[in-house]
Amino acid sequence: MEATKQLSFDFLTKKPYAPPSWASHLSPIPSHVFSLAHVPTPIHKWNLPNLPKNTQLWIKRDDLSGMQMSGNKVRKLEFLMADAVAQGSDCIITIGGIQSNHCRATAVAAKYLNLDCYLILRTSKVLVDKDPGLTGNLLVERLIGAQIELVSKEEYAKLGSVTLTNLLKERLLKEGRRPYVIPVGGSNSLGTWGYIEAIREIEQQLPTGTDEVGFDDIVVACGSGATIAGLSLGSSLSKLNTKVHAFSVCDDPDYFYDYVQGLLDGLQAGVRSHDIVDIQNAKGLGYAINTTEELNFLKEVAISTGVVLDPVYSGKAAYGMIKDMAENPSKWEGRNILFIHTGGLLGLYDKVEQMESLVGKWYKMDIDDSIPREDGIGKMF
Ligand SMILES: Cc1ncc(COP(=O)(O)O)c(C=O)c1O
Repeated sequence: MEATKQLSFDFLTKKPYAPPSWASHLSPIPSHVFSLAHVPTPIHKWNLPNLPKNTQLWIKRDDLSGMQMSGNKVRKLEFLMADAVAQGSDCIITIGGIQSNHCRATAVAAKYLNLDCYLILRTSKVLVDKDPGLTGNLLVERLIGAQIELVSKEEYAKLGSVTLTNLLKERLLKEGRRPYVIPVGGSNSLGTWGYIEAIREIEQQLPTGTDEVGFDDIVVACGSGATIAGLSLGSSLSKLNTKVHAFSVCDDPDYFYDYVQGLLDGLQAGVRSHDIVDIQNAKGLGYAINTTEELNFLKEVAISTGVVLDPVYSGKAAYGMIKDMAENPSKWEGRNILFIHTGGLLGLYDKVEQMESLVGKWYKMDIDDSIPREDGIGKMF
């Protein structure tokens, strides 16, 4: 048999893209998609304590979408990287916070496709001239050789992400490079296709043969907008027709209603963001800042269900959801809910100091001196 006939591996291949039939009126439709994610990601029952009466909770494990590219970003990158390659780019520029999961995932995807990667990372004024270290996402980014350029929060606020990426783009163009810019969080209309596709995936995961089986609600974190734009648009167009509840972890809901509207308009969707998604504030003390209650909640969830949430996105979204369930039980009672875990676990390493006092204790194992040594064991010492 010819070797080529045996090879039908999908991962890291570029394929022509055909949208679900219910999304075929959207425009523009991407021409290609790169297979980067390990999909379909599993869906399983999630027995969180203190759910309202007769509420069934399920979780879609997008945190298992792959290790180095894990989380929700990889779904957007499947479309964005295909575009970068189609445009003949030789390097990728993107931007985010110092522990950006999106920047880490983009850097890995770039390397898989043999492209260089430049990351503009936002940090505090006092740290902007210092070595950023190797905590969490930074270790992966630096290990795979992404070029990191630090900016202060003040510079970021003054100039904005578009100006900053354009500055870097101009510089690289002058050096003869062909850069492709991916916006914050991969959240443009092209990236939105990642979660339109996720709706098709969920549809295909549901038992077939009846329209009765399905989810009443989808709950997910919102940080830059395209995840909820894709989910809510896909859900409203498909048979799923599930209500999408977003918990925003930075900026406020009004900002995201407007931003998502821009993404929907960019696809000529002809729908209003207010009609298809419900956005609530779960920012708490601020982006990537956690209260002890939130971290305790993360611990309780891990102990009771084995699912480890990240502190910045899904942790705050789940915390917000449970709080809302306690305050408005009638809104959630008897519903069939799908929570989407969007990953970001490397962000936990940035919280080690704050978590130290919350986690399980350790003990030196008690071994009686009188226990005889068994021959042949432990000879290496
Ligand atoms: C782990 C994780 N979950 C959720 C989000 C939010 O998704 P989006 O940026 O599409 O709103 C992000 C990024 O912002 C993220 O890194």
